[in-house]
Amino acid sequence: MILVTGATGFIGRSLMACLEREGIAARAYQGRINDPLTLRQELAGITTVIHLAGSEARGRNRLLNHVDVDGSERLVEEARRTNVQRIIFASRLGADPASMHPLLRAKGQVERIIQRSGIEYTILRSSTLYGRTDRFFEIIVGLAIWTWPFVWLPGGGKMGMQPLWVEDFVRCLVQSLSRPNLINKTIPVAGSEQLAYATLVQQLLSVAGYRRIPLPLPMLLFRPLTPMLFNWWYWPAVSRYFMDRFFVPEVTDHDTTYRHFGFRPARIRDTISYLRRSGLALRIFRR
Ligand SMILES: NC(=O)c1ccc[n+]([C@@H]2O[C@H](COP(=O)([O-])OP(=O)(O)OC[C@H]3O[C@@H](n4cnc5c(N)ncnc54)[C@H](OP(=O)(O)O)[C@@H]3O)[C@@H](O)[C@H]2O)c1
Repeated sequence: MILVTGATGFIGRSLMACLEREGIAARAYQGRINDPLTLRQELAGITTVIHLAGSEARGRNRLLNHVDVDGSERLVEEARRTNVQRIIFASRLGADPASMHPLLRAKGQVERIIQRSGIEYTILRSSTLYGRTDRFFEIIVGLAIWTWPFVWLPGGGKMGMQPLWVEDFVRCLVQSLSRPNLINKTIPVAGSEQLAYATLVQQLLSVAGYRRIPLPLPMLLFRPLTPMLFNWWYWPAVSRYFMDRFFVPEVTDHDTTYRHFGFRPARIRDTISYLRRSGLALRIFRR
């Protein structure tokens, strides 16, 4: 039996739908990840955990430590005590326990906890994912609507990006369940297109039907601006971690997904028709 933590989240919802389509029995973790009693009850009879619970969307370092790092540590401890044989974890490209960026540091710490657990694992280090209700493309377009007639380009928009469609990431997670050659591997996954942020933004706006004048802004301005704009929201549309990708490039081999999982990720242009719908201006005010 498979247990999915974070099943109600952006990735979790796609994953649960995919597992159901594939006829793979799985259940969603119910309750808080740090609660030992809940953990014990939820892990009873479980052989595989797909671990997606995380607090990055909230943009708070305290929560990263509490939910992501401590929560994962407790999950692993309890998994060791019960019969769990495999943990599959959604990490990020650039994860590093010594990173100066809190999210990447937390991801690196969780990776290390899982790698040292003695339980078989597969860690997928992904670039940022997009898809309907994402906090990436929808936010870029939503913000551009408000900043008419401009679209902001942090650092001139030169930073490389390699976004991955959430459905392709879910395909990698599902394959990880049954492929013995992925056991005890930490694998980078990303889309097939590497492009500068400025190019990506133009592509998104063109599909969404907006014209904006690119306005390059120095990174120095964004560091203080992001918390000022968004940190007072309980569910900020753009967390401070959003800006990390302008400092640590989220790029890897263009064919990494194909080499490890045997399929080519969808092209961005073919998978972003969801940006054409109305209401994206309000998207930045919603969770
Ligand atoms: N989205 C990406 O681009 C991306 C890329 C690479 C890796 N990841 C990682 O993949 C994981 C899932 O990402 P996502 O985009 O799906 O995030 P998300 O939409 O924010 O979902 C997070 C999930 O974690 C759950 N959660 C939060 N705090 C919890 C707690 N204390 N106890 C139990 N569950 C808790 C949430 O449940 P509630 O809503 O009930 O709190 C929700 O189901 C995260 O660890 C993220 O860092 C994401």
